[in-house]
Amino acid sequence: MKKINTGIYIHIPFCESRCHYCDFCSSIINEENVKKYFEYLQKEIDLYKDILKNRVIDSIFIGGGTPSSVDEKYIGEILEKLNNFEISKDAEISIESNPNSLSLKKLRAYKSFGINRISIGAQSFNDDILKDIGRVHNKSQILKAVENVNAAGIKNFNLDLMLALPNQKMEDIYESIEEVKKLKSTHISYYSLILEEGTVLYDRYKNNDKAFADEKKDREMYHYVVNSLEALGYKQYEISNFAKEGYECRHNLKYWKLKDYISFGLSASSNISNTRYTNYYNFLDYYEKIDENKKPIGFKEDLSIDDRLNEFIIMGIRLNEGINVNEINERFNIDFEKKYRSAIKKNIESGLLEKKDDNYKLTTLGRDLSNSVELDFFI
Ligand SMILES: C[S@@+](CC[C@H](N)C(=O)[O-])C[C@H]1O[C@@H](n2cnc3c(N)ncnc32)[C@H](O)[C@@H]1O
Ligand code: SF4
Repeated sequence: MKKINTGIYIHIPFCESRCHYCDFCSSIINEENVKKYFEYLQKEIDLYKDILKNRVIDSIFIGGGTPSSVDEKYIGEILEKLNNFEISKDAEISIESNPNSLSLKKLRAYKSFGINRISIGAQSFNDDILKDIGRVHNKSQILKAVENVNAAGIKNFNLDLMLALPNQKMEDIYESIEEVKKLKSTHISYYSLILEEGTVLYDRYKNNDKAFADEKKDREMYHYVVNSLEALGYKQYEISNFAKEGYECRHNLKYWKLKDYISFGLSASSNISNTRYTNYYNFLDYYEKIDENKKPIGFKEDLSIDDRLNEFIIMGIRLNEGINVNEINERFNIDFEKKYRSAIKKNIESGLLEKKDDNYKLTTLGRDLSNSVELDFFI
């Protein structure tokens, strides 16, 4: 039997503090809990032995939270555990980090564990903005982190940046692009701020704080980012993601193309042969299930063909290559152009969608109004 290519995600739910925009599953770091959590991650991986033995791991993503906030030995031990399974020789192995915890010593250790891609959460190069959004680092720490990545000899690194932050001006975006030009990362993720309920920024917005960008400003920033990154040789391959030739994030592409991935840790979500599993969100439930020798799954959903089709279209349309007619027809046994005739016609006529060769993709205007296009295709 041919082994199935699979991505692995490992969630590290610890941060030094909570940023004012973030609602990811994470808690304030505490050494005792870190030690216990990593012991349980090892046990959780054991519970997947039978599934993993039939798979080839071709991407690993250690995300969070802030994986760089924990001692590197824990990361090494987890990767050693995964080495009991088949990992392809050219696997992409990424780790997320915050600039202030990315020392040269840590990076050298990561490299020795086989990590070959570093993602650095920069967000902005303006110290006032960084402080205002609750980041624990400043601009000079971002520059130092990149210097360390280079000194460790890791060529593939990403910078996470954000736009439409409170009090952010076009000048800040110009400065970020100037820094990107100097730092020469292989990949850029540039996210538009999402106001998540329960965060400090959400409350500020609801209390009529005037510091927030309106839709027009958000789009002005976004278009500037897209055009200048293109000019610097970063190819946009998804609404918020840009890469130098050949450096698209293989792991994230698995999410967007509905491929198989198995995830470990709190809140982590897996997609295994068309079933979606999501782990418990709190430590107590997570530990308790594993103590019972059971997978710590809080929610399981068998995706129907229509669910998968909806997801495939929503994810696919966000990719610059768009949706390939032959691929979708073969995968779902449908005639895409017939089934979605009216949605295709409406969105092509309004200039939001275009067909290039056998692919349907969003136009520049369509990328600004992607939610409305997605709704038209939803069944
Ligand atoms: C969950 S963080 C993990 C990495 C690391 N802890 C950090 O903060 O950089 C991944 C990225 O998601 C983005 N992000 C988190 N919350 C967001 C929000 N509400 N709106 C837009 N982007 C967000 C940030 O750019 C962040 O770097
Ligand atoms: S953005 Fe990153 S560092 Fe900040 S709270 Fe979220 S996961 Fe932690």
